[in-house]
Amino acid sequence: MSRGVVSEMRPEDQERWKELWRGYLHFYNATLPDETYRQTWARLMNKSGTLRGLCVRDRESGTIWGIIHFLLHETAWTDRMVCYLQDLFVAPESRGQGHGRRLIEAVAEEARRLDCARLYWLTQENNSTARQLYDRLASYGGFIRYDYKLR
Ligand SMILES: CC(C)(COP(=O)(O)OP(=O)(O)OC[C@H]1O[C@@H](n2cnc3c(N)ncnc32)[C@H](O)[C@@H]1OP(=O)(O)O)[C@@H](O)C(=O)NCCC(=O)NCCS
Repeated sequence: MSRGVVSEMRPEDQERWKELWRGYLHFYNATLPDETYRQTWARLMNKSGTLRGLCVRDRESGTIWGIIHFLLHETAWTDRMVCYLQDLFVAPESRGQGHGRRLIEAVAEEARRLDCARLYWLTQENNSTARQLYDRLASYGGFIRYDYKLR
């Protein structure tokens, strides 16, 4: 039986979350100022906010192996909310043990509980490791993303 358990993050998890989120940003060659880490953590801790986060940790030692961020938003297609899964990261040394899958399933469970109409996410076409997992869990509908430069 796996020793991993998914839960919400607690105030004392801030440093480990920061380390893992930095790893995720690094994966996308992105950096963010310390202030953004602080603000984002405060938003994750605000249980009535839009941005939500979960982590998977060792049930015995409490070490966090991976994190996931998601949010709910409205849509014109239904009066129910839809769930957007945003950032998913598992520490390199803990991959291939089902933590990523477990985190996605936990978000799906929460989306069901909140009666969301849909759960969806984006990834880069060439992220074959992530897509290997996603292809087992969900379906690819052929959409691609465009980014309009606002500023
Ligand atoms: C994508 C990512 C979250 C997957 O996390 P993970 O904990 O390794 O995922 P899982 O173990 O649940 O699933 C990986 C799948 O690949 C298989 N796999 C086998 N060996 C593996 C290995 N060495 N590393 C990763 N996956 C492996 C697993 O068996 C599993 O398939 P299964 O669920 O059918 O058994 C992780 O690789 C990661 O953080 N990557 C960098 C950031 C990233 O790409 N995030 C997603 C952006 S959209």
